[in-house]
Amino acid sequence: MPVVTCIEDLRKLAERRVPRMFYDYADSGSWTESTYRSNEADFRGILLRQRVAVNLENRSTQVSMAGQTAKMPVAIAPVGLMGMQHSDGEILTARAAEKFGIPFTLSTMSICSIEDIAEATTAPFWFQLYMMRDRDAMTRMIGRCKAAGCSALVLTLDLQVPGQRHKDLRNGLTVPPKPTLATLIDLATKARWCWNMSRTKRRSFGNLVGHVQAVSNMRSLSAWSTEQFDPRVSWQDVDWVRRQWNGKLILKGIMDVEDAKLAAAHGADAIVVSNHGGRVLDSAPSTIRALPPIAEAVGSTTEVWMDGGIRTGQDILKAWALGARGTLIGRAAVYGLGALGEAGVTKALQMLHKELDVTMAHCGHTRLASVDRSILVPGTY
Ligand code: GLV
Repeated sequence: MPVVTCIEDLRKLAERRVPRMFYDYADSGSWTESTYRSNEADFRGILLRQRVAVNLENRSTQVSMAGQTAKMPVAIAPVGLMGMQHSDGEILTARAAEKFGIPFTLSTMSICSIEDIAEATTAPFWFQLYMMRDRDAMTRMIGRCKAAGCSALVLTLDLQVPGQRHKDLRNGLTVPPKPTLATLIDLATKARWCWNMSRTKRRSFGNLVGHVQAVSNMRSLSAWSTEQFDPRVSWQDVDWVRRQWNGKLILKGIMDVEDAKLAAAHGADAIVVSNHGGRVLDSAPSTIRALPPIAEAVGSTTEVWMDGGIRTGQDILKAWALGARGTLIGRAAVYGLGALGEAGVTKALQMLHKELDVTMAHCGHTRLASVDRSILVPGTY
């Protein structure tokens, strides 16, 4: 096994092992990618205060996220096509998350299905949903989540009109897919990936094909998904989802204080300050910048989480200090998955946890409950 010391090591390994079109799908933002880059870069500018001569024995990073105990304030974000980063990718990631002790979120656009994850794990997992025009299909999908014992629904509100990702167009990862000769040749050279993929039957969108009436194969899927993302979404539609679902409801894609207040008023148990990993509105602020005013506005009544740009435990600690009671990681886990399968996701979680724990100690704390903005150097956030 290659020596892996940080998420960047996993990223480099994934870049070598995963076919270009799927690696690029994860490692991309919309348009100029400036928001994608600033999500990560803005964390670097925030500085921590080093404190000494404090008893640092018996530390814990355990928290609760939407009523679920988590070994650290991290859950796996919903990521489409995880099962193309590595065969059975969602199953492997869900297993790694369960063993490590953090929540896993399955994307609607996943390769493994809701039922696959329920069968492969015992901890309740979360399911991510979009507003679709076909409300009956949504009701059936929510019914499947109930049957699978999902404990939370994560409703993504910011992708009803997707941003363009140039890399996907160049690679032919479009709807319908039009892979170029170069991407196909590249795919054929990723021997390990091809071998693993040849040993699974899960190679299309497991939540949709065979479940949604209009979708029986990839071609009908592309027609369905183009017409299904409903651009008319309103807060009344959020109320409609709330009525369908008694469990925890998490609203993702909140970047504005006004929207955060509306989300809280419409029954969100938690909100995720998210710009979809810089994949939708290019020139949106980074999420670590958008977080503080939102946490101040609704944090006392609603759990505020954030995602985007988290590559180290220091980032998780900074987000916590600025009011995020949880974070979601997408790419950090996906790089582990593409690099080393389940062991890579576990490695990513172990590294983030160690960095978080040690950094918390260097800032003079043994529990996250006592960590707040006072650990940050004034003027750097
Ligand atoms: C889907 O959520 C994507 O960002 O591709």
